[in-house]
Amino acid sequence: METSKRGQWGSSFGFLMASIGSAIGLGNLWGFPYKMGKTGGFAFLIIYLILVALVGMVLMLGEFALGRKTGKGAGAYTALSKKYSFIGWMAVISPFLILSFYAVLGGMVLRYCLGFLVQIIGIDGFAGQGSDFFSWLLYSDSSMLLFLALFMVCTMVIVMGGIKGGIEKFSKAVMPALGVILIILIVFIAMQPGAIEGYKFMFKPDFSLFSTPGDFFNVLKVASGQMFFSLSVAMGINITFGSYLDKKKSLQKNATIVPLFDTLFAVLAGMMIMPACAAFGVDYGQGPGLLFASMQKVFLDGMGGTAGNVMGFLFYFLVFIAAVTSSIALLEVLTANVVDRQLDKGKEPKRKKVSLIFAILVFAIGIPVALDALGSGGATVKAPYELLGLTTDSPGFAMWNDCWLDFYDMITEGILMPLGALFMSILLGWILPKLVKNECEESGHPFKGYKYFNFCFRIIIPVVMVIVLWTQIQSFFF
Ligand code: PHE
Repeated sequence: METSKRGQWGSSFGFLMASIGSAIGLGNLWGFPYKMGKTGGFAFLIIYLILVALVGMVLMLGEFALGRKTGKGAGAYTALSKKYSFIGWMAVISPFLILSFYAVLGGMVLRYCLGFLVQIIGIDGFAGQGSDFFSWLLYSDSSMLLFLALFMVCTMVIVMGGIKGGIEKFSKAVMPALGVILIILIVFIAMQPGAIEGYKFMFKPDFSLFSTPGDFFNVLKVASGQMFFSLSVAMGINITFGSYLDKKKSLQKNATIVPLFDTLFAVLAGMMIMPACAAFGVDYGQGPGLLFASMQKVFLDGMGGTAGNVMGFLFYFLVFIAAVTSSIALLEVLTANVVDRQLDKGKEPKRKKVSLIFAILVFAIGIPVALDALGSGGATVKAPYELLGLTTDSPGFAMWNDCWLDFYDMITEGILMPLGALFMSILLGWILPKLVKNECEESGHPFKGYKYFNFCFRIIIPVVMVIVLWTQIQSFFF
């Protein structure tokens, strides 16, 4: 009775697609290329891949196991013991903050998508700005708010549909199409003169970073944040998804396939954007606007005409859907957490009402992100550095205060998630070292690589997380 009220996945393919759908999103297409562009290509890529293998994949398995064992979302920690409740709380704050900037970006993607759609029928979709549209959009308060709201409405409607009818159905259709369009764009961009420099930036071995510890730790911190964000680990998502999974399914298989696909999509996005920057003269290191700036040039200047508009529309449409399959996961963690509490108290769960309330709250918290023009200055809402009385060249100006998006990002990726991962790895490595193994073996599959997972939980993850946290804290005082 209780299981059916909570919901369960219709098939393991659906679960897999929803997990992959939650993992693949703006993190891969927007975040990965710009962070790689900002911190130095090859070195970032290598550190990222190592982190996925040693930390991300291991944590993901731990979360699936925790969710399925307890049958709870972020409340899984409380279900193990009241004294671990605080880890669950941290796992709820993160999705909340992430969703509020995610929805702003998702809204911008939707705006580009509609821009190209109307261009197909011959109407100017970019306010006469062409490839400079990004800087115009940042200062258009009404568009930013409208599209933030629209994005949240789309997310909410799907979450209201519940697990099987909403999230699962949606994810199954979309992810394969996104892969196909990425490949088409990669091939087109590869044929542009000058594109080769972009591949060199990503793949040409360059170890100079490793000789300066300060820079190395900084890249490690950025790559680790990106890894949490992109794999959706350390924030209750996979715990929640695991809790809807039946005991017969292999957790290990899923915890391997999801990171593999996620990483593949991130690398593909890099192989699309870095060569595009090289071919069309866009600065790799320009930050959060990179995806928009580089692809706008590809569609308007590179392809041009109707072909450019159609491809532009298709591309942003699929990015939009990829963003929605992630945002529904974020809203689902928040919703499931309350629904579980209602069920525990023997009340009828009110999924619709709960998701509406969260959607409104997320919109409110997203407003500063939408209205500070990503810290470009002179916007309706002042960025954190402006509130602190700094300018972009003062010594205290840093990545955590340069705009509200990066501020929320610092709280989540920089502090809460590494801290959550640290506690989780201590719990699963030292306090309950058999939990993951036993839960995995419930499905009748022997647990492979116990030593590897155990070593990562016990030693590697705690050490890496302490370094990441330390680097983050130092960045406040340098
Ligand atoms: N992983 C998603 C992405 O890469 C973002 C996300 C984070 C989704 C957390 C769900 C939970 O875009």
